[in-house]
Amino acid sequence: MRYGLIAATIGLGLVLGCSKPPEAPAGGAPIGMSQCNRGEPWRVQMDTDVKDAAANHADQLEVTFQDAQNDVKTQQSQVRDFVAQRYDLIIISPKEARPLAAPVSEAMKAGIPVIVLDRDIDGGDYTCFIGADNVKIGRELGKHMVQVLGGKGNVVELKGLQTSTPGHDRHNGFMEGIKGSGLKIVYDSDCRWLEDKAKADMQSVLTRFPDIDAVYGHNDPSAHGAYMAAKQEGKGREKTIKFLGIDALPHEGVRYVEEGILTATFQYPTGGQEAIDMALKIFAGEKVEKKMVLGTRLFTAENVAKGGEAVE
Ligand code: FRU
Repeated sequence: MRYGLIAATIGLGLVLGCSKPPEAPAGGAPIGMSQCNRGEPWRVQMDTDVKDAAANHADQLEVTFQDAQNDVKTQQSQVRDFVAQRYDLIIISPKEARPLAAPVSEAMKAGIPVIVLDRDIDGGDYTCFIGADNVKIGRELGKHMVQVLGGKGNVVELKGLQTSTPGHDRHNGFMEGIKGSGLKIVYDSDCRWLEDKAKADMQSVLTRFPDIDAVYGHNDPSAHGAYMAAKQEGKGREKTIKFLGIDALPHEGVRYVEEGILTATFQYPTGGQEAIDMALKIFAGEKVEKKMVLGTRLFTAENVAKGGEAVE
């Protein structure tokens, strides 16, 4: 165990009520980061952002990354292992809200601060949450779609995992955004954030519904999967249907807007840099806010060359 030697020191520090061990290990205080999966570009970007931000403070902290491979049980044991090995702080981007609540609570009880990134967990027993406002993003996307479709049309909603908070919030926000308009959701399904699932669902939707005006993908991979299904159908419907998504990674969603594949994408910042800033504040003993809300940007064909526009 890499930090075995320092574990006792940290443990003693905690017993004495200190948040830092008397002697920080070489390379800085150990932080454990549990990423729900590294199979999606957005999550790879989050890990990169954390890594780059941490590299600027290598004397103060050192991050060990774990990939839960989209498995809740794996993620639960990663958090418990970080606790058992007495890491100084845990960063988690959880797969689902409910099952990760208990291990995170255990870490808090053991005196290890926890920063929750992007997806929230039930109960709120953590040091702080960092993420964008998914209700707002869903609402703004809904309003934008109403505008793009001229107030009416048939919509397919390819949702993110409904047991994760962004999936839930992006749907509720969208419903607020299209309220009172002539937009009608003709089909929806839980695509669990997965491009392949979105593509397969869209293939069957295309055979069932001759009139589809827009697709709301809860993330860019879902919107792109739907586009690919329409393109491969071979009837040219990828040109008439509007595809809108969320994430806006430069080499993913933003590129799709540039290529005319997506009508719009809303940026979903990873919070990686902010997590490291927050960890440094916690180590310095500063009081930190319980919730840090990150902003978003809208990218369309009109504004993509200028880097999109901030959404107030
Ligand atoms: C990646 C992802 C993103 C999405 C986020 C929501 O796993 O699906 O595409 O915006 O998670 O938590």
